[in-house]
Amino acid sequence: MCGIVGYIGDKQAQSILLNCLKRLEYRGYDSCGIAVGGSSVGVYKDAVRVETLGQASPRFNGTVGVGHTRWATHGAPTQVNAHPHLDCTGNIAVVHNGVITNFEQLKRQLTGEGHNFVSETDTEVIPHLIEKYYDGSLEKAVDAALRDLEGSYAIIVLMGGRPELIIARKDSPLIVGVGDRGNFIASDVPAILAYTGRVIYLEDGDIGVITQKNIKISRDGKRVDREEHKILWSVEDAQKAGYEHFMLKEIHEQPRVIRNTLGEYTRVVDLAAGSSLIGEAGMESMLMLASGTSYNAALVGKYIIEELLSIPVMVELSSEFDYYKRILARSVTIAITQSGETADTLKAMKKAQEAGCRVVAVTNVVGSTASRIANQTIYTRAGPEISVAATKSFVAQLMVLYWLAMTYPKADARRSAALFTELRQMPSKVQQVLDNENAIMGHAEYLSKYDNVFFIGRGINFPVALEGALKLKEISYIHAEGLAGGEMKHHTLAVLSQRTPVIALLAKDDTYGAMLTNIKEIKARGAPVIALAGDGEEAIEELADFVINVPRVDAVFSPVVNIVALQLLAYYTAKKRGCPIDFPRNLAKSVTVE
Ligand code: F6R
Repeated sequence: MCGIVGYIGDKQAQSILLNCLKRLEYRGYDSCGIAVGGSSVGVYKDAVRVETLGQASPRFNGTVGVGHTRWATHGAPTQVNAHPHLDCTGNIAVVHNGVITNFEQLKRQLTGEGHNFVSETDTEVIPHLIEKYYDGSLEKAVDAALRDLEGSYAIIVLMGGRPELIIARKDSPLIVGVGDRGNFIASDVPAILAYTGRVIYLEDGDIGVITQKNIKISRDGKRVDREEHKILWSVEDAQKAGYEHFMLKEIHEQPRVIRNTLGEYTRVVDLAAGSSLIGEAGMESMLMLASGTSYNAALVGKYIIEELLSIPVMVELSSEFDYYKRILARSVTIAITQSGETADTLKAMKKAQEAGCRVVAVTNVVGSTASRIANQTIYTRAGPEISVAATKSFVAQLMVLYWLAMTYPKADARRSAALFTELRQMPSKVQQVLDNENAIMGHAEYLSKYDNVFFIGRGINFPVALEGALKLKEISYIHAEGLAGGEMKHHTLAVLSQRTPVIALLAKDDTYGAMLTNIKEIKARGAPVIALAGDGEEAIEELADFVINVPRVDAVFSPVVNIVALQLLAYYTAKKRGCPIDFPRNLAKSVTVE
């Protein structure tokens, strides 16, 4: 997704902008650019990586500027389509994240009025509109331009000769980083973490005027106060710390992430007093909304919560929720989103609220849009997740779901007490999986030679099969499909052969026997089987071609150890195939468009 940055202060802007853009690279992009303001505006942009841009760019003198990483939507990833975009005079530069839906009509109109367009982008109408309305006040011109726009935007506007940046947002995230000797603007926190941890989140409809010393935010012409948040992530959290990829570092962080996330809630939830993570005593049903990996976490949550609380849980894809005609207004709704900015999930949350549901956000980003829309927010403590492929956030989401179920007053007290003891052992169980990395690497080398891989699981491991396939597919580009073991006979047996390995997830629960039968059916069709099973499962060692051993745990926790093994498997398979693991093609970390 596009990323935007801005800086105004007492230092040269160019190197700060490039540094911030580097930290936005993880969102995915195909071109980038900067504009630095002095008496005029200097612009350099191209369809290159940020590092190359920095090397090739002329040196601009100025202490105010904007930068952009573009993820092409309107027009190919070319130099001319890259941001910043300029007006006819070349003195107004705009960086934009979002989509202007009425840009064609505006472009026709502005062209008729004599404006000259050079790019195919929707964004270019914005500087031209500002130019049209400019009458001495940049803020007023931006305000007038925004009234003509339909769609979504987070923008930063720079004008030569003016020591200010004008910013605005609607349905796209934008933050202001408060510095001691200058201020920063960015799409998200990691971009500016090296400079400041004090952050203000803009809300939809806000317009800001940012100078070196002042931050003025208004809405509908009236000044508003926006709370400043302290971000506890450190710069090191957002760096690779010697690992080859962010994904590998984040996989290895998981024991700590589990401890941090659980630690957070052991403090706030007083079990003896009977308080729960969600303050809803008479919950009769639950609705969960999420996308991608977070959706798979929600599906695992369905099995956890239905087992422990005996209430029905519906899990829906955020992107489909808009098409549903009937919603149970009394369902407590849990919206799970790592970034807290996924457009589909934000829209689904609003729809659930309009239908009368109380919405609890489970998110990793303090102050994110989801946290501000929700009636209640539960934070995961995964730290910044930079790799596009989500790993530690998934496990942190599971921890919240376990905790939420186990502390709920209706939960079976004896079962919960036994599970608590085991939950506290999860960091060391996950560490044991990580210690088995070398063996998993060997299986990854084997897998890397295939073009189609299936993952199967039943019960609580069905969504883990979905997530294992999602992970392998997105970073290795191998076609991978996850499915419920029971579905094989309904379709997928038809395509099995020696060229289609199947990864079977075993847990010692009521699915075990049926999974063994699945493995036999698969073997009978000649497909190789890699089984994921608790240590010392002899029956499986005889049946499967290969076994990846994971520590024995209560079946309700098997998703935690299984997914960590599957994350490593995906990682090393992608590495063997030479894929750009942290930045898979065509994908973005934060999906802020529908
Ligand atoms: C996959 C992945 C995506 C996200 C999805 C939702 O590894 O990261 O599928 O899970 O885009 O993102 P959030 O959780 O930020 O709403």
